[in-house]
Amino acid sequence: MSTPAAEGGPTRVVQLPSGERVLPPVPGSGSGLLGQPAPPAEHPPVQGPAVVVGSRPVSAYTELTLEAPDIADVARPGQFVAFAVGGPTSAMLLRRSIAIAGVGGGRFSVVVSARAAGSTWLAGLRPGEELDVVGPLGRPFPLPPEGTPVLLVGGGYGAAALVGLGGLLRSRGHEVAAVVGAGDQARLCSVEELSAVAAPFVVTTDDGSAGRTGRVTGPVAELVGGAGAVYACGPMPMLAAVAKLATERRVPSWVAVEESMACGVGVCMTCVLPVVGADGRSRFARSCTDGPVFAGDRVRFADVGTLPPDLVGADAMQLVHTPAASPAHPTAPREGETP
Ligand SMILES: Cc1cc2nc3c(=O)[nH]c(=O)nc-3n(C[C@H](O)[C@H](O)[C@H](O)COP(=O)(O)OP(=O)(O)OC[C@H]3O[C@@H](n4cnc5c(N)ncnc54)[C@H](O)[C@@H]3O)c2cc1C
Ligand code: FES
Repeated sequence: MSTPAAEGGPTRVVQLPSGERVLPPVPGSGSGLLGQPAPPAEHPPVQGPAVVVGSRPVSAYTELTLEAPDIADVARPGQFVAFAVGGPTSAMLLRRSIAIAGVGGGRFSVVVSARAAGSTWLAGLRPGEELDVVGPLGRPFPLPPEGTPVLLVGGGYGAAALVGLGGLLRSRGHEVAAVVGAGDQARLCSVEELSAVAAPFVVTTDDGSAGRTGRVTGPVAELVGGAGAVYACGPMPMLAAVAKLATERRVPSWVAVEESMACGVGVCMTCVLPVVGADGRSRFARSCTDGPVFAGDRVRFADVGTLPPDLVGADAMQLVHTPAASPAHPTAPREGETP
C-alpha cells in the first residue's frame, strides 16, 4: 500500500492482518535517510462540541479530560486537537493546538501549560463546560516493526504526547525505555504514566530538583544504542539533540514538533519547517498536516525559521516576500487587539 507524502517521496505503509498500519523495517546501515515520513491519518478530522468531564492540576500543568467520542475513538498517538478558545464572543480568532495525551471510553485528555491568554482560558475550564474542538489533526507516530525495542523521550509537557504511544507499544509487546526531563521538578509531566510502561525509566531536571541533574541527552546517549526506534516530543532544541544522537547511532527517530499554528488544517503555511524529502531535496512541510510527527533525521533543525536557499521554491518565495511591517504596511494588530 502506498500513499503520497508532501515531503517529496512516497510513504510505504504495510497493513497488518489486524488492520494496523506500520512502517516496514528500516535498514540498519547505509548512508541514506533513516526515517520515513509519518503516514497520513486514517480518519479525517471532525469539528464539534467537547464537554469537559475532568480537570485536575498535574504539577505545573492542568490535565483536562473531555468527552468527544467522534475524536477520541479514532485518535492515534501523536495527533492533536485544536480548541476554539475564549467562548462564543471571543476575539481570539486562532484555535489552540494541544497534543492528545490519552484516549478511552469516548474521552480524550490533554495537558495544558497556562502561559498566555488562550492556554490560561483552557486551563480554567471546569467540568460541565463545553467548547468547540477540531480533531484528531495531524499525522500519528508510525509504529515500529514487531519486536523493536523503543526509546521514548519527553521534555516538559511534551511527555504527555508519548503516554498513549507508550501504552500502545507495551500492549504490542515492545520493550519500552523512557527518559522524561524538565527544567525543574514542577515542570515534569506524565512521570507516573510513563514509568508504568517503561523500564528503564529515567527522570532528569536541569536544576537537579528531581532525578538526575542535567538534560535528557545524557541518559538518551546511554540508552539509544539499545533502541531500534526513538520517539520524542518536547522543545525544539531537545528534539534536535535527540534526533542527532539517534541518527549518529543509525537509529531511526520520530519527533513531534510544536511549531506555531494558525489554521491547523494546512491552508495558511504558518507552521512550515524545512524537511528533507526522499529525493534528498528540502521542502517546506506543514507541521499541521505533514506533521507534527516527522522523521528526526529529515528535519533541518538548524534552519527552522529561515528560508534556506537550497529549498525547493526558495527563489520564488524570496520574490514574493515583503517585510511584515513598514511605513506603507503598518504592523497588523495582534489577535484580540482593537485595530
Ligand atoms: C502540535 C502542537 C501541540 C501542542 N501541544 C500542546 C500541549 O500539549 N500543551 C500546551 O500547553 N500547549 C501545546 N501547544 C502549544 C499551544 O498550541 C499554544 O501555542 C500555547 O499553549 C500558547 O497559547 P496561548 O493561548 O497561551 O498564547 P497566546 O499568545 O494567547 O496565543 C498564541 C497563539 O498565537 C499563535 N501564534 C503564535 N505565533 C504565531 C505566528 N508567528 N504566526 C501565527 N500564529 C502564531 C499560536 O499558534 C497560538 O494559537 C501545542 C502546539 C502545537 C502546534
Ligand atoms: S497552521 Fe496553517 S498550514 Fe499549518
